[in-house]
Amino acid sequence: MCFAGWRCLHWCRNLGRRTLLCLVFALVIATFVLTSYVLSGGKQDHTFHFFPSKLKEPNLSFKKSQEYKQDKTDQTIMTNITTPHLQTSSSGHGLLWVSRRIPDIEDLRQFEPHIFSIIPQEFLQFSRNPCWYQEYKGERDPYSNNAYLLYAKRFRTIFEEMRQSFWKRLQAIGGHHYRLRCLPYFYIIGQPKCGTTDLYNRLLVHPSVRFSAIKEPQWWTRKRVGILRQKETPKSRFPLENYLDLFDLAAQEIQGLHSEMKRKEDGNIDSPIIGEASASTMWDNDAWIYIYDNVTNTEPPHLTLDFIHVLQPNAKFIVMLRDPVERLYSDYLYFSVANKSVEDFHDKVNDSVQMFESCLRTSPLRSCVYNTTLNNLLPLLSTWELTSAKSVKYFTM
Ligand SMILES: *[C@@H]1O[C@H](CO)[C@@H](O)[C@H](O)[C@H]1NC(C)=O
Ligand SMILES: *[C@@H]1O[C@H](CO)[C@@H](O)[C@H](O)[C@H]1NC(C)=O
Ligand SMILES: *[C@@H]1O[C@H](CO)[C@@H](O)[C@H](O)[C@H]1NC(C)=O
Ligand SMILES: *[C@@H]1O[C@H](CO)[C@@H](O)[C@H](O)[C@H]1NC(C)=O
Ligand SMILES: *[C@@H]1O[C@H](CO)[C@@H](O)[C@H](O)[C@H]1NC(C)=O
Ligand SMILES: *[C@@H]1O[C@H](CO)[C@@H](O)[C@H](O)[C@H]1NC(C)=O
Repeated sequence: MCFAGWRCLHWCRNLGRRTLLCLVFALVIATFVLTSYVLSGGKQDHTFHFFPSKLKEPNLSFKKSQEYKQDKTDQTIMTNITTPHLQTSSSGHGLLWVSRRIPDIEDLRQFEPHIFSIIPQEFLQFSRNPCWYQEYKGERDPYSNNAYLLYAKRFRTIFEEMRQSFWKRLQAIGGHHYRLRCLPYFYIIGQPKCGTTDLYNRLLVHPSVRFSAIKEPQWWTRKRVGILRQKETPKSRFPLENYLDLFDLAAQEIQGLHSEMKRKEDGNIDSPIIGEASASTMWDNDAWIYIYDNVTNTEPPHLTLDFIHVLQPNAKFIVMLRDPVERLYSDYLYFSVANKSVEDFHDKVNDSVQMFESCLRTSPLRSCVYNTTLNNLLPLLSTWELTSAKSVKYFTM
């Protein structure tokens, strides 16, 4: 059996067909990403504003983070998203798109009680970022136990910088100390080799954008579960606080602006927006087997993005994609270690396709997509990408 992404490789000489196919392919992947996860749920204006609007009058009371019109059409988008299932019938294989209910807070809380106890359901109004004040009861050195620092000493300078301004910013109210905590306003996500780093570098110099202290924290997909590198088994989990620490410089700045605003009673201050650029947040669900205890099912009950969706429903996402064949070859050239050649590339792609097809002969599509063992064994491509390719076959042939 052959599939579209694979044929695309063979048709590289046939420019017309290739361009057409690849275009459709890219379109389907985009549709796949967007329809299968209408993350912000069509609730509000989805345009990404690089220039945050002027701050209003300081208001310390909370704003409902899920402030949106509960109209019927939106509700449909929110509660049901489509996921592809492979359908086998006498007439052959076909992709069947079936509904999946988007989990709500009650579905997810039990799996991450600590995270849900820290991140409030309502955020402060004066910043576009999801921020809140949290009492600080910690050590003299706020970062001594941060796992990002413990595992990578190269971050020492960054943490030293954060340490120096930490105590200056801490607010004392009635014998208690408070710090501002923030999650990102937007995420840059996408496949590898699609320009996420380029976009990151450009936005890094934007006067109104601040990024996490580390470029790709990979917290939602890996560190949250204790996975340090892709394909490794979990070690110790990175608590949410370690991740939040990465936004401290931005949070301190926003808090400073807030105090200044209160002092001057002047609402005309530009508040920066916070970004995060862990590309894998889009597709990496390999950790699911470590998250759900007693799971006898072969499919994840919930996905990484479900958690972000419930915790910050208004998060914005910039998705970076590219012509899938070009992407794959670029990925191969960049990540493969030895004996790179066109033939070797061909064999690795073929082997990956064969392994995926072989899984599909015995298991449902969704369990193959989320088969972490299989994903780790594939010499190239991911089950996720293979599924996107597969859906193209059934849409175009
Ligand atoms: C502060 O925000 C709350 C909730 O959004 C609102 O009810 C209240 O009127 C606001 N207060 C001021 C002084 O604007
Ligand atoms: C959502 O999906 C469920 C289960 O497949 C179905 O029963 C329900 O009618 C769907 N709701 C909408 C609004 O499509
Ligand atoms: C998992 O199963 C064991 C034994 O059946 C049970 O004691 C435990 O409570 C279960 N854990 C969860 C989280 O359901
Ligand atoms: C690369 O090719 C050489 C010679 O054919 C072989 O000995 C070696 O094992 C190959 N390395 C890898 C990583 O496949
Ligand atoms: C792909 O690999 C299989 C064996 O795994 C082989 O039979 C087949 O000829 C290969 N196809 C191509 C196009 O190289
Ligand atoms: C997952 O992949 C592994 C390795 O290919 C395979 O042994 C296993 O049966 C697969 N599991 C499912 C549920 O398909």
